[in-house]
Amino acid sequence: MDRIRIRGGAPLNGLIPISGAKNAALPLMIASLLTEETLELGNVPRLADISSLLRIMSNFGVDHSIAGRRPGQSSETGQTIRLAAKSVIDTTAPYELVSTMRASFWVIAPLVARFGHAKVSMPGGCAIGTRPVDLLIMALAKLGAAIEIEAGYVVATAPKGLIGSEIDFPKVTVGGTHVALMAATLARGTTVIRNAAREPEVVDLAECLIKMGAKIQGAGTSEIVVEGVTSLGGTSHDVMPDRIETGTYAMAVAMTGGDIVLDNTRPEYLQAALDVLGQAGADVSPTHGGIRIRRNGNGIQPVDVTTDPFPGFPTDLQAQFMALMTRANGTSRIRETIFENRFMHVQELARLGAQIRLDGDSAYVDGVAGLKGAPVMATDLRASVSLVIAGLVAEGETTINRVYHLDRGFEALEAKLARCGAQIERLRG
Ligand code: EPZ
Repeated sequence: MDRIRIRGGAPLNGLIPISGAKNAALPLMIASLLTEETLELGNVPRLADISSLLRIMSNFGVDHSIAGRRPGQSSETGQTIRLAAKSVIDTTAPYELVSTMRASFWVIAPLVARFGHAKVSMPGGCAIGTRPVDLLIMALAKLGAAIEIEAGYVVATAPKGLIGSEIDFPKVTVGGTHVALMAATLARGTTVIRNAAREPEVVDLAECLIKMGAKIQGAGTSEIVVEGVTSLGGTSHDVMPDRIETGTYAMAVAMTGGDIVLDNTRPEYLQAALDVLGQAGADVSPTHGGIRIRRNGNGIQPVDVTTDPFPGFPTDLQAQFMALMTRANGTSRIRETIFENRFMHVQELARLGAQIRLDGDSAYVDGVAGLKGAPVMATDLRASVSLVIAGLVAEGETTINRVYHLDRGFEALEAKLARCGAQIERLRG
């Protein structure tokens, strides 16, 4: 299994190109199931999760092709993928495939909307009625799908098609909003989605669906109105920049010091996080096509943060911010309100010398003068990258195991950081 080795201490200087967003690319790829025409997606990141979803789509009979690299394009230039769900031969998504990635459950929406039938394995071992897919199922049931649970599978049927309805989410859910939005595009009549997620990835999906012929208003607000149409067509769409990758590198330079331009991204996608970085002592300014982050000389100030749905501080940047706070001049409190127990990185940061106390939904981080390199590993994508950020300033050598977590969501991570001066390399095998 590959590992990443980092020698801490080098500041980051230079330019980092930001990739297309994994969490936008996944629902966009799934949306191709809504039409028999071809959906062409540009700026798709080269990531393990994208390959996993392509495998799942192939299983349904979706044809796909990946355009070759053009001269001058590097391995980090996003790829163009064409998906054609013309001859879908199967509307079942088996456990072996769905269990590798939670987001693949979302295929249930376009399948039942277009074909009137879908059988999709529940992701993980959660019982129905509780997390994590009860709200997604509720949305489909509201649209008239009959739902049955059979041996770990959710079977959704609507032989006469879905019917527009009112969906009130009791809590903000990104996946629930994606599912409701996709299903409603082909439902008869009007659907109103209330307490919808306002994340930029929802807006990106809605914009693509509108290009495919869907009638959607209000994406990006908490009330989305969808007027169903009888069919959707193909289109061409570029995946939005990855705001979590952007925020991760912004935190890395706030940690190491230096001067970095994050290119091909947009500050408004992560304003809450950039504001917090400003309070922590980084100098953040917009550039023509991205964001410039500097921290020279001044120390890191402690800042209290609470994760929230967009436009709040994202849970997907919580671990990275905690890494930064381990070196702050004082104590910060980090509250996680989206996922309980999303503190798996705490133990591993402690191995590098961080001082962190957990109390319920909060972590209290006492900044220390220095971290020390050690072998570490993490159990999820964002936790893994928080260890990279800590390793970039830890004295000596940090080795991060289970790199496949990073490969799920960060394109060319070590190449992007190494070009800016980090001493980081991948050890194969
Ligand atoms: C998306 O997950 C992202 N994944 C996550 O990113 C991200 O952390 C999360 O949104 C929150 O921003 C993708 O986009 C692929 P939710 P999702 O439904 O849609 C509860 C990463 O690292 N809930 O918004 O699955 C749920 O348990 C990943 O890239 C229910 O109770 O998250 C959570 O507490 C990790 N019932 C809250 O809602 C449901 O049916 C928000 O979850 C659904 C969700």
